[in-house]
Amino acid sequence: MQQLTNKRIILGITGGIAAYKSAEVVRLLKKSGADVRVVMTNGAKEFITPLTLQALSGNPVHHTLLNPEAEAGMGHIELAKWADVILVAPASANFIARLTQGLGDDLLTTLCLASEATLAIAPAMNQAMWHNETTQYNLQRLQDLKGRKLHIFGPADGQQACGDVGPGRMLEPELLTQSLANLFDRGMLAGVRVTITAGPTREAIDPVRYISNHSSGKMGYALAQAAIDAGAHVTLISGPVTIKAPSRVHLVNVSSARDMLEAALQQTPECDIFIAAAAVADYRPMTVANQKIKKSGDTIEMTLVKNPDIVATVAQHEQRPFTIGFAAETQDIDTYARSKLARKQLDLIIANDVSRQDIGFNSDNNAVTVYWPDGQQDFADRSKNALAHDLIELIAQRYHNPPHTV
Ligand SMILES: Cc1cc2nc3c(=O)[nH]c(=O)nc-3n(C[C@H](O)[C@H](O)[C@H](O)COP(=O)(O)O)c2cc1C
Repeated sequence: MQQLTNKRIILGITGGIAAYKSAEVVRLLKKSGADVRVVMTNGAKEFITPLTLQALSGNPVHHTLLNPEAEAGMGHIELAKWADVILVAPASANFIARLTQGLGDDLLTTLCLASEATLAIAPAMNQAMWHNETTQYNLQRLQDLKGRKLHIFGPADGQQACGDVGPGRMLEPELLTQSLANLFDRGMLAGVRVTITAGPTREAIDPVRYISNHSSGKMGYALAQAAIDAGAHVTLISGPVTIKAPSRVHLVNVSSARDMLEAALQQTPECDIFIAAAAVADYRPMTVANQKIKKSGDTIEMTLVKNPDIVATVAQHEQRPFTIGFAAETQDIDTYARSKLARKQLDLIIANDVSRQDIGFNSDNNAVTVYWPDGQQDFADRSKNALAHDLIELIAQRYHNPPHTV
């Protein structure tokens, strides 16, 4: 992550169980060439020792504010001015509340007040603390603060240290480091208008039944977040999913393939890059019954008709954006992906092997190969979030350097 080379980073650590992961964050930041200074709250010191962080960062750890010796060394204002970015990971509910209030009751909050550097926080807490109205209110206030360079990374959803399951896990150190690196890359898609389709479509059979597929929407949603992190204005056209959309997208909810096409065509003249990550049903029932179909004979027949090809329609539009498709294949991936790329007149196609059980649909991981007319690149197995950031980087490169200008 070259973006972090020589960057001066304050890593703030607060009193949460995820503090043990901060040691790995320090290691990864150092590995990326950053100069790291760790600032701990009193709570944080109950979870991980300053000695560990001093050894990993190669710098003394700062944890006291009202201390003549500390002020005589690198005082709090000097430290505040030194930083290019402050990352607080984990950020406890208590810290977030103090930050929202503008308190300066310890070294870390005082630094956040005194520094003009970009601030990124990685909330980490029990799911009930995360859902708590006050925490949500505080986060909303932070999101709404104008003129402040503030980013909220995560949290992730999943199994928690206390045994609960839900949102509140700190993002994994690799993803945090990547997200931080992306902050220095904000020019990559700055001001670029990106439309992304995601999730499955539902094709009605009758008022209560439909044909659909197992798409979770995770890949498209992760791409939307990564595009936002790269500075893009993002519209997300989403089929029915259970995951939450990133906070700064323009979300358009749709159900069927035809709804999705209509929404996509509305966006086409308004967008620079179109990424078709949705798993659109290829066929739909020819007729939709007005009433619930009754159980009668042992078999039932249904005629299906082809749905419109959304990505091909956008790619052939007279105001076509830079258009990217996905190909989910089970065999001969190279051949099928290249033929789709040419047939649908796409700029890029992202192909994955859905015959693999460990990645793809509904999984948190994915591995893909990206093809363009005169090249290709493999992205080995990694989290969908990490992959999304890597893909957005490649998409930005190809978008800014289309073949005829290379
Ligand atoms: C074992 C244990 C684990 C905790 N984990 C978290 C946590 O993950 N997130 C959180 O917000 N608070 C957590 N707390 C509560 C905080 O430590 C407490 O609110 C503390 O005042 C935070 O102080 P600080 O924000 O100044 O570091 C935990 C407390 C204990 C005893």
